[in-house]
Amino acid sequence: MKLTILGGGGFRVPLVYGALLADRGEGRVTRVVLHDLDDSRLNAVARVLGEQAAAVPDAPEVTATTDLDEALRGADFVFSAIRVGGLEGRADDERVALAQGVLGQETVGAGGIAYGLRTVPVAVDIARRVAHLAPDAWVINFTNPAGLVTEAMSRHLGDRVIGICDSPVGLGRRIARVLGADPKEAWIDYVGLNHLGWVRGLRVAGRDELPRLLADPGLLGSFEEGKLFGVDWLRSLGAIPNEYLHYYYFNRETVQAYQQAEKTRGAFLADQQARFYEEMKRPGAAALSAWDRTRAEREATYMAENRESAGAGERDADDLSGGYEKVALALMRAIARDERTTLILNVRNQGTLSVLDADAVIEVPALVDANGAHPVSVAPLPEHATGLVCAVKGVEREVLAAAESGSRATAVKAFALHPLVDSVNVARRLVEGYTDVHPGLAYLR
Ligand code: G6P
Ligand code: MN
Repeated sequence: MKLTILGGGGFRVPLVYGALLADRGEGRVTRVVLHDLDDSRLNAVARVLGEQAAAVPDAPEVTATTDLDEALRGADFVFSAIRVGGLEGRADDERVALAQGVLGQETVGAGGIAYGLRTVPVAVDIARRVAHLAPDAWVINFTNPAGLVTEAMSRHLGDRVIGICDSPVGLGRRIARVLGADPKEAWIDYVGLNHLGWVRGLRVAGRDELPRLLADPGLLGSFEEGKLFGVDWLRSLGAIPNEYLHYYYFNRETVQAYQQAEKTRGAFLADQQARFYEEMKRPGAAALSAWDRTRAEREATYMAENRESAGAGERDADDLSGGYEKVALALMRAIARDERTTLILNVRNQGTLSVLDADAVIEVPALVDANGAHPVSVAPLPEHATGLVCAVKGVEREVLAAAESGSRATAVKAFALHPLVDSVNVARRLVEGYTDVHPGLAYLR
């Protein structure tokens, strides 16, 4: 079985390869093709994978190429984990937004729109190439903003593209853990958009255990989301939001924290990873240990400004690794081997949330088998959550329209309609700022 990884020179590829190495089952991946635009990044990652495979018999064979068509031909699965504009682009997204007093996070608010406007045209090209060269392949999209990018690709690939994120899994796992339940036995009632969803219940043996958590301030304040959002707010909501909703519910504080930070997240990661890739050019460098050190530092500092502004302290050791490679592997196995399972995924709505049309990509538990991912039916969201979901989906649709038409006015509309952008004039200045720094936005006219 052939797996192609787009963005194959990316920093998190060794996580995926590590998960593949641990898979000893029948029908596992035997060939991995890494595709990237940058040869030196491919070499760096190939060195890490080489060290990972050293002690493993029958490790999947790894090849690397900068030729997209060659990478796609004959692929059974395609993981798409690209970063258009690199981490410098991410840092620019943050800087331009913060200068206007709004959030520049890569998936939320102005930053997410800017990143989406740059990424959608590239993702659409890839989807077209896949449809042409590997029409039977399943595409698993990791590329952020994951919901929007998955929807863009689904217009060309239908349900053969599925988006993934590890944050709902991590959230469900944390809630199960504080409740003393086995996450594998729990049904997590979660729905929304990517980085914009809520856990409304967690059923074990047919009983909803979430009310027990909401009723117990000690328990509620003992884990990541309790510390981030505060016990009182979670009790008012009657649900546990995805951690990315911190940017919405505490927008003023998070913007301030990011403005005051010594470096934005993108700038920090750009510097950190530049050092890693530089080190990998040195003959004799210990690739795996350098990668592992860099990874650990990245995980420990994840959402640090949010936690600091909320007084939430350090991350729990158990939460450090999100495990998105595990979600990807579980999804791939369920499809390839017809191992029926349920995963929270980004898939087309198909009527699951009645307020959105059938083609809107949402994040929801889905039953997965050899036929793909089938969203399960869920209870409707309360009005306040429906309002946010519809507003943000409306913004995503403007981003898709701007990417298709190249209309600058539509791009302004996308920014202006976002709940975290507080004026049409701000939206105009954002489009100016972003088109000034990003060559990838030259198509907006
Ligand atoms: C979480 C999010 C991902 C994100 C990752 C890394 O897992 O769900 O969407 O890519 O964190 O975030 P970072 O800030 O380290 O790039
Ligand atoms: Mn995510």
